[in-house]
Amino acid sequence: MTISIALTKGRVEKQFLQYLQSRGFDVGPLIEKGRKLLVETDEFTCIFVKGWDVATYVEYGICDLGIVGEDILAETRPDVFDLMPLPFGKCRFALAGKPESIRHNRKRRIATKYPNVTQRFFREKGESVDIVKLEGSVELAPIVGLADAIVDIVETGTTLKENGLVVIEEIQLITARLIANRSALKIKKQSIQPFIEKLHGEGVYK
Ligand code: PRP
Repeated sequence: MTISIALTKGRVEKQFLQYLQSRGFDVGPLIEKGRKLLVETDEFTCIFVKGWDVATYVEYGICDLGIVGEDILAETRPDVFDLMPLPFGKCRFALAGKPESIRHNRKRRIATKYPNVTQRFFREKGESVDIVKLEGSVELAPIVGLADAIVDIVETGTTLKENGLVVIEEIQLITARLIANRSALKIKKQSIQPFIEKLHGEGVYK
């Protein structure tokens, strides 16, 4: 039985392909895919989708495995098996804003792509905030006055720096993760197990 994998397009895609190659997989067909969204190799079938959709394909059983950022898993909490962290896609969730916004004495408005993560973070702190959901370029919000601060992922810190923002508080470290469809893990164990072991070494599969 062939294994199917849902892969996040973009930054993580490149890092995952390099990682696969370092583990001895033939990634030639994946690198030469052009604009194709579904590619078959001798060892597996790969689909290329947005990070937010990876877990959907895995949850619905279209793909056995998925590679997705922990930020998305934390936000959407999909019904999948979270198998293990992968050694790339490293960044962190942070609360950030203008340096002068660190001190505040009123209810804050927070812009973010991650409203659930943001709500949990402030609930644990015991602070009530208003959350504004954005789809991207979140760093703009404090600059133009849409929000007092943002909750976002920070990788190199370049976007914050170039927009005059600073990290106010670190929230959580993030990596890419390997997720699996719950029943595929049992039904296709014979094909999935060797794949995971080749990917990560012995003893990962329980
Ligand atoms: C992400 C994130 C930050 C940026 C952080 O955005 O939302 O804006 O990367 O990276 P850095 O610390 O290395 O600068 P992405 O590039 O995914 O685009 P988006 O703003 O459209 O979400």
